[in-house]
Amino acid sequence: MNGDASSPGAPRAAAPQQAAAGQAAAGNGPRQPDPPGASARGATLAFPTSPFPYPRLIAHRGGGAGHRGTAPENTLAGLAAAHAAGYRGVEVDVMLSADGVAFLHHDDTLERTTDGRGPVAGTPAAQLERLDAGAWRGPAFAGERLPRLTAALDHCQALGLWLNLEIKPTPGRDAATAQAVADHLAARWPVLAAPEAAHALPPLVISSFSTVALAEIARRLPAAPRALLAERLPPDWRDRVDALGCAALHLDAARLETGALAALRAAAPGLVLAAYTVNEPTAMAALFAAGIDALFTDRIDLAPAALLPPAP
Ligand code: G3P
Ligand code: MG
Repeated sequence: MNGDASSPGAPRAAAPQQAAAGQAAAGNGPRQPDPPGASARGATLAFPTSPFPYPRLIAHRGGGAGHRGTAPENTLAGLAAAHAAGYRGVEVDVMLSADGVAFLHHDDTLERTTDGRGPVAGTPAAQLERLDAGAWRGPAFAGERLPRLTAALDHCQALGLWLNLEIKPTPGRDAATAQAVADHLAARWPVLAAPEAAHALPPLVISSFSTVALAEIARRLPAAPRALLAERLPPDWRDRVDALGCAALHLDAARLETGALAALRAAAPGLVLAAYTVNEPTAMAALFAAGIDALFTDRIDLAPAALLPPAP
């Protein structure tokens, strides 16, 4: 085991009673303002993080986003490569086929990462499964297939990988994609639909830029940890986080000033803060020093332990 599996959030872990109260509120609309004299908003967030600590480094796009000849993104080979490199957490993108099957895939269209053509949303599952999703990364990966979400969940469980499922809906399919994800997760981990059982949560977080998708997850899987993705911190970030019962914000590192990060940390001490996608060790060090909890990276060519700041 390496330092990648360590929790960044221990000081911000919620007490059990906070967890129960927070989960009762999750998905029930914006939280009411604190009464006068109460602790500052953000000190107690709508969701506890203690049962599912983030790894400090998370392999982006299933461990294979293409940095220096690594495995193809969002494939089982990518997940295995991340694990072999020492990563204990991965992020993958999920979208639906034409017939509503959840697959790992990032782009709306197939051309960049497969030998297929056209939109994923216009292609049935049986056709997606015949595509080559590996040859574009080199002959060693020829024949790699687009994985169904179910296969990726099996693979992560078998490897013991912490998982960030990013719901990446194709246009207009936000709720449908979230429903498919929720159905698969509920079948595998019924505890996610039972808010009172936070202690038994699997090690996963569901994220999305789509608030529609996150709201659907909150409604169907109230105990599922959720993260709001944002390229820029929206002015109403706190209302969004509260309304969606999010445990975390995942922000674009390219637009994240360290001063803004410090202010965000002070405003919401219980919120997990993660940033994507950081591939330069010096930038990683700066963000860790500024207080980021976790980073998404393509650098599975480097051992995570070499990229983490020394333990205090
Ligand atoms: O979830 C973090 C990151 O993956 C968001 O960007 O476009 O790589 O899915 P993208
Ligand atoms: Mg992603």
